[in-house]
Amino acid sequence: MEITYYGHASLGIAINGFHLLVDPFISGNPKASHIDIKALEADYILLTHAHYDHVLDVEALAKSKNAPIIANHEIVTYYEQKGFSGHAMNPGGSRKFEFGTLKVVPAVHSSSFPDGTYGGNPVGFVLKGESKTVYISGDTALTMDMQLIPLFHPIDLAIFPVGGNFTMDVDEALIASDFVACNRVLGAHYDTAALIEIDHEAAKNKFREKGKELVLLDIGASLQV
Ligand code: NI
Ligand code: MN
Repeated sequence: MEITYYGHASLGIAINGFHLLVDPFISGNPKASHIDIKALEADYILLTHAHYDHVLDVEALAKSKNAPIIANHEIVTYYEQKGFSGHAMNPGGSRKFEFGTLKVVPAVHSSSFPDGTYGGNPVGFVLKGESKTVYISGDTALTMDMQLIPLFHPIDLAIFPVGGNFTMDVDEALIASDFVACNRVLGAHYDTAALIEIDHEAAKNKFREKGKELVLLDIGASLQV
C-alpha cells in the first residue's frame, strides 16, 4: 500500500491496483499549490466529515474522475441529491470493496457542510488490504473508543491529526498511538494555517523518546505500508 500526502488531511492511497482519495482539500490550500488535482488518480473518494477543509475538491474530482463517494449517510445523500454516486456507511459497519475492506469507526468532532447542511457524524476509517491495515482517524479528539480498534485489526500505520485547536495535538496523538497499539504514525492536519502550526523536530522527538515514529511527509511525498 502506498500513501501520498496532499497536504492538510488529504491523502491518496494506492491499494490493490485502485486509487483512493481521502478528504480532498487541495486547490484551496496555498501550501499544496504545486499539486495539480486534474492529474490525481481517484477510483473512490472517502470522506471523514463534511467540513470545508475536507470536501472542497470533492465535486470537481468526483465529476472528472467519475469516482463514487464513500462517507456517512448524510454526506452521501447530500452528494446524491447533486447527481453524484456514493456508498453510505456508518460507525460499526464494515464492507468488502474491490480495493480492500473498509470499517467505519467513530470520531469525536463535528460535521456540517459549508452551506450549513447537517453532515452527519464524523468518522474514521480502518482500511485493510495487501495484508496491511491502516487507521485513518479523521479529525477527532483522543477517545477511549480507539482502544477497541486493535482488538479487531493489528494496525500497521495510524494517520492522526497533530495540529491541535480543532483536533488532537502531538501529545494526544502519541497517547492515541498507544490506544491503537501502533508505533508508526503519519501526521496530518497541521501547518495549513498559523493556528495549527507545529514544531516538526520537537514533535518527532516526542515519538522517538517512546520508541515510536512520527512521519511528517512533504506535500506530494509518499510512504509505503
Ligand atoms: Ni473538521
Ligand atoms: Mn479539519
